[in-house]
Amino acid sequence: MMGVEYISSDFYFGGCDTVTLAKKYGTPLYVMSEDYICERCKEIGEDFLGKYENTRAVYASKAFLTLEMCRIIEREGLGIDVVSGGELYTAIKAGFSMEKVIFHGNNKTIDEIELAVKHHVGRIVVDNLYELELLNSVAQAFGKKMKILFRITPGVDSYTHKYISTGQVDSKFGIPLKGNIIEQGVKKAMEASNIELMGFHFHVGSQLFDNTSHIKAVKILVKLIKNMKEEVGFITKELNTGGGFGIYYAEGDEPKPLKYFTDAIMNTVKEECNEKDLCMPQVIIEPGRWLVGQAGITLYTVGSIKEIPGVRTYVSVDGGLPDNPRPALYDAKYEAVVANKMDQEKKQLVTIAGKCCESGDILRVDLEVPFLEPGDLLAFKSTGAYNYSMASNYNKIPRPAVVMVRGGENRLIVKRETYEDLLRNEL
Ligand code: LLP
Repeated sequence: MMGVEYISSDFYFGGCDTVTLAKKYGTPLYVMSEDYICERCKEIGEDFLGKYENTRAVYASKAFLTLEMCRIIEREGLGIDVVSGGELYTAIKAGFSMEKVIFHGNNKTIDEIELAVKHHVGRIVVDNLYELELLNSVAQAFGKKMKILFRITPGVDSYTHKYISTGQVDSKFGIPLKGNIIEQGVKKAMEASNIELMGFHFHVGSQLFDNTSHIKAVKILVKLIKNMKEEVGFITKELNTGGGFGIYYAEGDEPKPLKYFTDAIMNTVKEECNEKDLCMPQVIIEPGRWLVGQAGITLYTVGSIKEIPGVRTYVSVDGGLPDNPRPALYDAKYEAVVANKMDQEKKQLVTIAGKCCESGDILRVDLEVPFLEPGDLLAFKSTGAYNYSMASNYNKIPRPAVVMVRGGENRLIVKRETYEDLLRNEL
């Protein structure tokens, strides 16, 4: 894992002994490696931003967002994409440069739009024509002119779980290319007093290992750019190609380097624009999972062990579905190691169960492990994206703490929730 993980009899992550981390902070515990995040940012810098002129990269913060994460992303020179008032509020409170914020969402509320306009976020990705009118009137009331992109549904399918496929025709996101809705939208936006239309956005799906959906979508979008120039006289300045770059979770996953996607995106934009005699727009990418997924692990302590002779052995841990709903939601597979027994031979096949009152709360089926006892420590890998950010309090289970590790040092960035926290808003 890019030099941030090494192994002795204890499992080390980001130069830290995970057994020591578990003792210090308790379990379950999310551990994030700042070194890993920085290496990914560097790769974006070298293989995309530094390689191609007129490009930008923004981090899709829905993958993992805390105040400290905002500070790291700002320091690394990336922008941030938010999809709700809460995510935007986090960026505001972290002091993130508002001109580097992109605000997404298929149903932004008036309150959310007001917050975005008040703080003058860099780009609002307008999902539909209702939102366009709402935004124009809010911007008018605040005496501001807001820069926008239109989210387009390119109508391409992706090879991923259907819950995280977003570019197909039948999608709740974006403006369809069927009919003339987009022409109307572009005209309206050009006439709107408090709106400046900059270009278009698409996001085809998530956890992709194949670049064909991006390539297809770019071709469709450049065609749209040409049509809008000819039909409405609109010159596109920006094309945001979304995120979706896949990562390694478990055996069978074959993630590609970032440049496999970005080179293909850039070459296609260039070729299509040349062919159609168009100026190259600025190209933006929005990786979420790719930036943080493998930067995170989750530590759990083993509790009860139930052997059903001839059937299977269930090993239950002190977390599960509330801190990681992805196995239950998407059938996601994770790899895990016994963090205090790295030098012991794997002799047993067990199923790791969460502690929720829910049969589907299984973190991993058939994991090969050394002989396990209550008190052992399990480290689940690749939990940096969409785990902490999707965590819930189901069964009134408090959310785990988050620790950031860097070069062998550790620091708490989110405290463990307490029982009082759970009742804070109750009357
Ligand atoms: N941009 C937009 C507009 C998006 O909707 C998304 C993800 C991204 C960027 C970042 O995609 P990424 O690079 O992370 O694939 N909860 C699901 C993932 C949902 C992704 C939604 N949109 C999961 O746990 O797999």
